[in-house]
Formats: sequence, C-alpha cells, structure tokens
Amino acid sequence: MSITNDTASLSRSRIDTQSAPAAAAFPPDFLWGAATSAYQIEGAVLEDGRAPSMWDRFAAIPGATYQGQTGEVAADHYHHMQEDVALMAQLNLNAYRFSLSWPRILPQGIGAVNERGLDFYDRLVDALLARGIRPLATLYHWDLPMALQDRGGWLVRDTAYAFADYAEVVARRLGDRVEWWLTQNEPWCTAYLGYALGIHAPGMHDKQLAVVAGHHALLAHGLSVPRLRAHLSSQAQVGIALDFYPVYAADDRPETLHAVKRADTFRNRWFLDPLFRGHYPDDLFSDLGVAPPPIHEDDFSIISTPIDFLGVNYYSRMLVRGRTDTEIMAESTMPADSYEAIERIPGASYTEMGWEVFPDGLANILTRIHHEYAPNALIVTESGAAFDDHWDGNSNIHDQQRIDYLREHIQTVAQVIRQDVLIKGYVVWSFLDNFEWSEGYRKRFGLVYVDYATQRRIVKDSGRWYADFVASL
Ligand code: FCB
Repeated sequence: MSITNDTASLSRSRIDTQSAPAAAAFPPDFLWGAATSAYQIEGAVLEDGRAPSMWDRFAAIPGATYQGQTGEVAADHYHHMQEDVALMAQLNLNAYRFSLSWPRILPQGIGAVNERGLDFYDRLVDALLARGIRPLATLYHWDLPMALQDRGGWLVRDTAYAFADYAEVVARRLGDRVEWWLTQNEPWCTAYLGYALGIHAPGMHDKQLAVVAGHHALLAHGLSVPRLRAHLSSQAQVGIALDFYPVYAADDRPETLHAVKRADTFRNRWFLDPLFRGHYPDDLFSDLGVAPPPIHEDDFSIISTPIDFLGVNYYSRMLVRGRTDTEIMAESTMPADSYEAIERIPGASYTEMGWEVFPDGLANILTRIHHEYAPNALIVTESGAAFDDHWDGNSNIHDQQRIDYLREHIQTVAQVIRQDVLIKGYVVWSFLDNFEWSEGYRKRFGLVYVDYATQRRIVKDSGRWYADFVASL
C-alpha cells in the first residue's frame, strides 16, 4: 500500500509540474495574448512626424539607463510590424496588447493631429484583425510628449485634459475596430518611479510630486473613459492596468503586521481605492510623509467612473518585516522606512530582475481584488519574466525557466477561475525582447528573442510552448 501511495504521489507531482495548465477552466473566448509598449519596441523615433517623448529625453541623460541605451531603434517594430504580426499568428495568439505613442499622434501633445502617426496604428489593427488577433490598445504606457513635459507634465491638471483629448482622437480613428481599451498603464510607476525614485522619466526625486502626478494620471483616466465610449461600439470594454505586489508578513511581530498594512496601502491600494471606492486610503499620505495632492470637488466621481474590467499586471510579491522604533531611530528618519522588504528569501527562486518567482501571489491578488473591489471582470494584462537567454546562433533559445514560470502562473489563473472569479484573459509580458526602461536591453522578457544587431526574431522555446498550449485548448 505504501508503494502504491508513493507512486501515486510521485506521478501526481509530475503531472502538476509538467502537464499543460488545466485547460477546462478557460472559456472559449478567453484572451490569450502577449504585450508590448510603443517606446519599448517601435524605434523610428524621428519618423513620420513623431516628436520626442519624455523617455527620449530621459534616456539621453548620462547614467539614466544601462550603458546609456535608448529606445531610438529598439526592436524596430515600426519597420517590422507586418512580420511581427505574422509571428504573433505563428504563436497562436488571439490577442495582442500594444500601446500607442502619444507623440506620434499628437506631436505637441495637444492640437494638430499627425495623421501618419495614426496611420501606423490603423495598419497594425487591420493586420491583427486579418489574422484573428484581437487588439488591446493601451493609450498611455509612459511616453508623455516632451512638449507636455515641458509644460509641467503630470504635475499639472492640464495634462489630464490633454490626455482625454488624445484618447478621443484615437477612439475616433480606431473605435470602429478595437474592442478592448486600457487608458493608463501602471500609474503607480508613472508617479513613484518617475517622480519619487527618479529611475523613470522624468527623473524627479520628491514624494510630494509623486502624489500630485499620480492624482493627475488618475484624473486623466477618468476623464478619458466617457470620451472613449462616445466613439466605441456598445460591446467595447474599457479598463486600466495597475501593477500589484501582494504583501506578505515575514514574521508575526506586531511591527510586521503593521508594516504589511502600510506596504499594501502604498503598493496596492493607492490607485485601487480611488478607482473603486472614490477616495484615497486613509493613511496613504501620512505614511508617505506628504500632503494630499490638490483634489477638486468632482475629481473622485470622475476617477471612479465605472469601468468594464481591471487589468492586473503581476510579477512578484513583497515580503516585509517591520522595524522596531529603536531600529527606525537608528537607521532612518523617513516614515516609509518603518519596514524593510526582504530581498533574498532562502530557497526562493528569482528572475533576472531579482524578482521572486511566486505564482501564489497572483491568486492572492486576483481573489482579493474580486472580493474587496468587485470589478466587472479582470484580465491579467502582464505576467512574465526576464531570464538569461542564450541564442545558439541558429534557431534555438532554450528558456525552460520561462516555460515553467508561464505554466505555473497559468495554472494559478485556472485555479482562480474555478473559484468563480471572472477572468477574461492572460497576457504575457512580453511578445518580443525589448527596451526594459532603465535596464536597457540587458533584460529579456520576450517569447521571441531579438538579435538587436540584425533585428532578426527567433522564437524561444517558451514561445513554442505557449503556441502549443493555446492550440491544445
Ligand atoms: C511593467 C511595465 C512593462 C515592463 C514590465 C517588465 O511594469 O509595464 O513596460 O517594463 O514591467
């Protein structure tokens, strides 16, 4: 009997880790996609009337990015678009999430429309639809027109109104064919990485500015929703993509339990609460040691305009440990430093970004959002990993770790769907290797490898695995 049991558990564990994710959980119209963003892949920064974005300017600052790398050429998708869409079809994607470059469409951010910029996305959408790939269009993935940055960028309210105008310009052109829309990508990063940590454009270092920028990004989202809907079909779905790090306690000391709450407010609720509850979390600003941003009377009703779905970008979790008062006094005077995030957990595995591989965190955040915020639907709009990929010079990149990562995360989504959480899609970050912001080209997230010297694309083993998996459904 014990032999039988051992054999059973062995084969069960083999099936759990090696088999395809439980296909039965996924409805036939589930979106199986991969994602990119404009500045990370397009290149062609001076072509067809595009004007600079704040990322062109930021990346040019010595030391801002790894080896001074920029998105000037990137994966040259602007010139490889048809080939890239053909590759998506080869990967059996039925959805593709991309972003539009605001400074390609409105070079000055406002005013004159550059039709040639819009034409590019028009061709992209047609190419996708011709192959049965549903476009998920993101309007803002961090490449603010430099002309608007020069007028104050996200620190001024006018930028939110400019965004709503831009959204309408795009919806007028593409609204007859694009069903899925995301207004903003990860406003937490826009605000905190761009304005407090200074590691993203525009490279500022002031938490006070970060909360102002974040508020205007939220306002931009809310103002744009009705402007989009005015030009979309009745089936169209409008949402926003937020980034989440579910927070776990490293121990059960009271300091740590308090730290979990603070970290969660800062990392997850800052943007969730205004969108779904119409106010900021109570302790957000005092925890950060800043004053609230200037909030006008109708702002929260605009920001919490109902949306059709929430995009969840998930990469990893936070494991935090609270510091005692004595530790805080000794180490820092900053309120946000009352806890530490544990960087290396014994026994855990990490991606090339230094992010812990933790699929359960995805289940945690999806179920928690479903129960506490009740969005109409959820889509995993980014999930993926950078690993140290090696191309053999022919047609092979053996990225087994990425296959494991995707399989485990897709299995997790299947489990969550079985708990009656409405999830409508899973989108891998990324379709192609690309410009990973301040990390430049050294971090590769793609299902498809890019040899930047020749712009040759080579499908990685993970791309083949994903294609086979989607075909098997
Ligand atoms: C997300 C961004 C995306 C990419 C991945 C790795 O935060 O939305 O552009 O950088 O991380």
